[in-house]
Amino acid sequence: MQRFENAREAALALRPDDPVYCFRPQVLKDDARRFMAMFPGKTAYAVKTNGEQLVLKALAEAGVSAFDVASPAEFAAVRTVAPDAEMLYMHPVKAQSHIRLALEDYSIRVIAIDHEDEITKLTRVVRALDIDPGSMTVFVRIQTKGSAAYELSKKFGAGPAAAVELLDRLARTGFKVGICFHVGSQIEDPDTYERALASADWVRNRSGVTLAALDVGGGFPAEYGRDPNSRKPEMPSLDELMARLRDDISEWGFDDVPLVAEPGRVIVARAFSLIVRVLMRKGRRLYINDGIWASLSDSWTGKITLPARFIPDPAIRSRNGDAENIVPFKVCGATCDSVDILSRPFWLPETVDTGDWIEIGHIGAYSLSLRTRFNGFYPDDFVEVTTPFEEGEAPQGFASLETMAD
Ligand SMILES: Cc1ncc(COP(=O)(O)O)c(C=O)c1O
Repeated sequence: MQRFENAREAALALRPDDPVYCFRPQVLKDDARRFMAMFPGKTAYAVKTNGEQLVLKALAEAGVSAFDVASPAEFAAVRTVAPDAEMLYMHPVKAQSHIRLALEDYSIRVIAIDHEDEITKLTRVVRALDIDPGSMTVFVRIQTKGSAAYELSKKFGAGPAAAVELLDRLARTGFKVGICFHVGSQIEDPDTYERALASADWVRNRSGVTLAALDVGGGFPAEYGRDPNSRKPEMPSLDELMARLRDDISEWGFDDVPLVAEPGRVIVARAFSLIVRVLMRKGRRLYINDGIWASLSDSWTGKITLPARFIPDPAIRSRNGDAENIVPFKVCGATCDSVDILSRPFWLPETVDTGDWIEIGHIGAYSLSLRTRFNGFYPDDFVEVTTPFEEGEAPQGFASLETMAD
């Protein structure tokens, strides 16, 4: 992989017409180690966030030895780069054949459920393979209430009374049991974990089981851009949030229970930026070579404010406007689909023109993993970049929270 100091150097050297991912392995390792140093338990990286081999390899080198996996392809991806790593199969709704594969071929012994039908599937496989249930930890996923860019309890999680029954049933069958939750991705309310811990405590107290583990899931917010027009309160830093989580864990009496976390976004977001090219400027519209069917769907659906840096093409000799004037542009994606328009504008210098590049920062999470091949566009070019995105010149732009009329 070619190596550059920063994205500007890469863009000017390669003059790319297709999107280019700028990978920063050192940033990834630093962020993973930072999380592991702060979290008082096992860190299982959520592979769905970004399951590229180069990411998993760098994480293994940084000392990550547990991975949250959700599918056979994710089992295989982890096994290839980290043969000794532990895998936690935390998807609550699984095909029975996938459960069998996990237990038989990958020796996975940690799994999550949120419904009795899932226990039935699991028990069938455990009996067929003659596995001692006592060698397995089964987490019951509980619903939580919170505020996040992505609410996950609308889809997954047992209500409190059902969770108590599930735990009791699992324990009677001989499994070790745990409670897990996912408070939603990119949380927007610092009290979210405390509310989830209170629910976990309620469920634990009403069931007669001894917990083998408590899994607090993901949700830890990544740092993105800051829209100066936003009225949303800023979230506390990860250090502050983690200090609060540690206090809440003690307060709710989970000190003696082994802990697990499944962070994704907070570990991998900063490790990538993306160089896109302006294929055409039409007034205040920019047509770029990426979009919602490739790297930008997470920012679109999650209303995430991404930082953006303008990389003017030096070959453009004359420009209109004032480079200091930062104005909103509607951004249209690469495909022929009319839905492929970002709902929020990018604020950029008004001089931006056809042929220029934009570096979109902190895009490592849910970008590469959500790419589609729609219309034949599939960004897959990578370079290594040594300088963290936020070092060097300040980003001039950002994807705004405001919507923009035509
Ligand atoms: C089961 C599970 N664990 C972990 C994660 C990672 O969450 P995040 O990226 O918010 O840290 C997700 C994300 O959807 C998830 O579904």
